Amino acid sequence: MLLHSLISFGFCLAVATSKNILLTNDDSWAATNIRSTYQALKDAGHNVLLVAPASQRSGWSSKFDIPPVNTLQTDGEFEYIKQGDPAWGHEENDMNIWYFNGTPASSVAFALEYVIPTYFSSSDENNQTAINNIDLVVSGPNEGLNLSPGTFVISGTVGATVASVFRGLPAIAFSASNTNNSFFKDSLNDDPLEPANIYAKKVAEFVNTLFEKQGANDRALPLGVGLTVNLPKVGYESTDESCTDPSWVFTRITGAESAAPNLLYDAESNLVKSNMTKFEALTVCYNGDCTLPSEASIIADDKCQTAVSVFSIDFDANAQITENIHSVLGPLFQ
Ligand SMILES: *[C@@H]1O[C@H](CO)[C@@H](O)[C@H](O)[C@H]1NC(C)=O
Ligand SMILES: *[C@@H]1O[C@H](CO)[C@@H](O)[C@H](O)[C@H]1NC(C)=O
Ligand SMILES: *[C@@H]1O[C@H](CO)[C@@H](O)[C@H](O)[C@H]1NC(C)=O
Repeated sequence: MLLHSLISFGFCLAVATSKNILLTNDDSWAATNIRSTYQALKDAGHNVLLVAPASQRSGWSSKFDIPPVNTLQTDGEFEYIKQGDPAWGHEENDMNIWYFNGTPASSVAFALEYVIPTYFSSSDENNQTAINNIDLVVSGPNEGLNLSPGTFVISGTVGATVASVFRGLPAIAFSASNTNNSFFKDSLNDDPLEPANIYAKKVAEFVNTLFEKQGANDRALPLGVGLTVNLPKVGYESTDESCTDPSWVFTRITGAESAAPNLLYDAESNLVKSNMTKFEALTVCYNGDCTLPSEASIIADDKCQTAVSVFSIDFDANAQITENIHSVLGPLFQ
């Protein structure tokens, strides 16, 4: 009996410590944030497969572009891969790092439908490099915040996450406050104050906690549920370099400070420009926990806090609202 429980305990530990993670983003496979996070998740003992767009796809939401031909028609991000190169491929020295000439959402599908079955499946249970299932999709950390419904519906980082949740996978979007679209060959280093490294460490901490709590359960998050996480300015980019280990705060997606893009017409120049505007509709609370602060207010407070919101892809309005609308439209259905 004791032996049996020791064995099952050991088994649980093994399950909890090494998971299969699909890592993607919208800033491209060559962005510093994703490369730093790839390393941190690997260092945490996980089997990580990075599959991300060949070029910058910020703002592409869940759009599902696929390569029209099997070569690149333009250079990839930072000219790391060039026009004429294959439309998908991997790092020469690392089969676990792939680019795909698509959007974040289609990169997830490409990983699941092509890369994994073609290069990572194995019937040998002891094969440590094989990936037969994905335990979690991590998208990001994005170079830039994705706060409020106003950017949730636009972000490619969130788009890849939503597309993963559609497919039944637990998924998390991480969006960070470092906004420079930087090439990992310029910027990847071991500096503990480098924002990309702090974000990578926080992603690993978050993911590991989720997996520990998952224990022997099949899933890390319920079916149809994902998380969207926004990280504050850290390290060199924080005030007095004081934010090196931001705390976690539960938030909701709507609420105070929430904004969405607006358009302003300038008669003098006859041009339009866009800016972020706080619309009242972005503050409603119909679902979830209305006592939680909004993610936008937590980031606006600039207190070295990370906003963690839970979303579901059940986009229907709640039962009360649905009933009210149905009764208004009742005459149409008689
Ligand atoms: C383990 O699986 C991978 C992915 O399918 C495969 O490339 C590799 O050859 C396998 N290793 C062994 C020792 O069978
Ligand atoms: C932003 O990223 C580019 C591309 O890697 C790099 O050349 C540049 O130095 C970076 N700028 C800053 C301010 O870090
Ligand atoms: C953005 O637009 C609103 C009006 O919609 C205006 O009040 C605000 O000052 C503008 N902000 C910027 C930075 O232009």
